[in-house]
Amino acid sequence: MNCEVLTLFPGIVEAAVNDSIMKRAADKGLLNVRLTDLRDFAHDKHHTADDYPFGGGAGMVMKPGLVFDAVDAVRARILEEDGEGAEKLRVILTSPQGRVFDHGLALELSKETRRIVFICGRYEGVDERVRLTLVDDEVSIGDFVLSGGELAAAVIIEASARLIPGVLGDDESAEKDSFYDGLLDYPHYTRPAIYRGLAVPDVLLSGNHALINRWRRKEALRATLKKRPDLLERLTLSADDQRLLEEIKAEDNEGMPG
Ligand code: 6GU
Repeated sequence: MNCEVLTLFPGIVEAAVNDSIMKRAADKGLLNVRLTDLRDFAHDKHHTADDYPFGGGAGMVMKPGLVFDAVDAVRARILEEDGEGAEKLRVILTSPQGRVFDHGLALELSKETRRIVFICGRYEGVDERVRLTLVDDEVSIGDFVLSGGELAAAVIIEASARLIPGVLGDDESAEKDSFYDGLLDYPHYTRPAIYRGLAVPDVLLSGNHALINRWRRKEALRATLKKRPDLLERLTLSADDQRLLEEIKAEDNEGMPG
């Protein structure tokens, strides 16, 4: 995954990207993140990045010139480095108006062969001509507002990078994560077997892996039913899963009055 992040605050993205999983992915050569400071493309004396909105009103708008110039510079640099054809970009604008990022898009980006260029919006917005002519996808990380798209870009890169094959070790493989198969994760326990009077479920100590797998599947279904029923509605469940879900519903009704 090759990412180019265009931002007025490269430090925010850098701090996130140079640590943890992302650092490991970069060390293995599976992730490459380059930062471009948009301020370098503000050519007036004061390096102005924003201006008043046409039509009046509150807030400032990020000027189009520096974004267009920065994208041109990235394109030219890539052409020089990788040669003709390699300059194909996938330009993502991070903004609260975008489609909401999810596991499906993370998986797609983890396999993206083009360079992924993130334009991190700041101020009240970015000049609309950027979105109209430069941007392939406008992406949000949820229904709330951040002061800028930097943390959103870091979130998107981290969630996608951990899905690149080889980034995670075998025993932490992404296939077991929540959302991988559309369900939330099952509960986890470690030693001690009894802690503050709370025992680990017997089945996990049984050594019977068929039973353990069945329990985990059932608890993943239970967690999803309880916390995120909207996820279950989108899935086509196997006959086995449907049976487990019936068991769960019957169990939950046992304790009910009436
Ligand atoms: Cl991508 N940017 C901003 N500024 N706020 C957000 C967001 C992005 N996603 C959710 N809130």
